[in-house]
Amino acid sequence: MNLKEYLSARIARVEAALERWVPAETVAPQTIHRAMRYSLFAGGKRIRPVLCMGAAEALGAAPAGIEDAACTLEMIHTYSLIHDDLPALDNDDLRRGRPTNHVVFGEAMAILAGDSLLTLAFEVLGKLPGASEPVRAKLVAELATASGTVGGMIGGQVHDIEGERQTPTAELLEAIHRAKTGALLRVSVRMGAIYAGATAEQLDALTRYGEHMGLAFQIVDDVLDVEESSETLGKTAGKDQAQQKITFPAVYGLEQSKAMAEQERLAAHAALDPFGDAAAPLRELADFIVKRKA
Ligand code: IPE
Ligand code: IPE
Ligand code: MG
Ligand code: MG
Ligand code: MG
Repeated sequence: MNLKEYLSARIARVEAALERWVPAETVAPQTIHRAMRYSLFAGGKRIRPVLCMGAAEALGAAPAGIEDAACTLEMIHTYSLIHDDLPALDNDDLRRGRPTNHVVFGEAMAILAGDSLLTLAFEVLGKLPGASEPVRAKLVAELATASGTVGGMIGGQVHDIEGERQTPTAELLEAIHRAKTGALLRVSVRMGAIYAGATAEQLDALTRYGEHMGLAFQIVDDVLDVEESSETLGKTAGKDQAQQKITFPAVYGLEQSKAMAEQERLAAHAALDPFGDAAAPLRELADFIVKRKA
């Protein structure tokens, strides 16, 4: 399997779905649609929607319309980035190689652009053309919980902010990472599996894969923040240390952090054993996450 080709084929479907669901810049009020599209179409890796599609494919032929479900993950993720960059949070001026949303559109519009991507994600799930009512309801609940305050993305962001300048401990670190990034990666896989009609056993195995991927992903994000340049990352490097964030390198050092990411990669692979060749893309995605440079 060629991962590059796999990714570009899946990403093209995700881009097309986003294009369909997000109002055009010509639709009033134009400013908000420009702001939403500015961050959404700035060239993210689209890892979360691809994981969703990959999980569905691991269960057999991917069901039609999976990209509609998958693209809601990119809406939530992009909203979380727009808000993460706000002056009140990480106060960043570079994202996806461009000035951040609030730098271009102002804070008020950036807050609203985040809000509208969040809202749109649930509108799309509620209308999901390829899914039955019970599946739509399950997906809504899954995505809401993963984005929420108890073990979800917002909960993790709260720990992350409140952890600034605190003594970094292994417990706090794990709680932050599992929630702020892990929850969305985990649910990406779960949503794909649920869309494709996974059995309870299949859902459990894929969830374990998603959890290991999620942890690996944020360990690597922390390592890259130390080792790479802003130019390579398309976002400000060295921010975590400057803001005294609780990160893997802060707690374990760089070498051990890398070893832990590798352990998570192998554990992610092991979780895929029941799926055989159908899970080859998910295996390669785990490798890609750990070996990436941006
Ligand atoms: C960055 O996510 C923020 C984290 C949750 C760690 P990505 O590395 O997936 O960012 P994009 O979507 O490719 O810009
Ligand atoms: C952001 O984590 C996580 C979310 C947006 C939920 P970071 O603050 O580490 O992400 P980057 O490094 O700015 O992309
Ligand atoms: Mg942050
Ligand atoms: Mg940040
Ligand atoms: Mg980071």
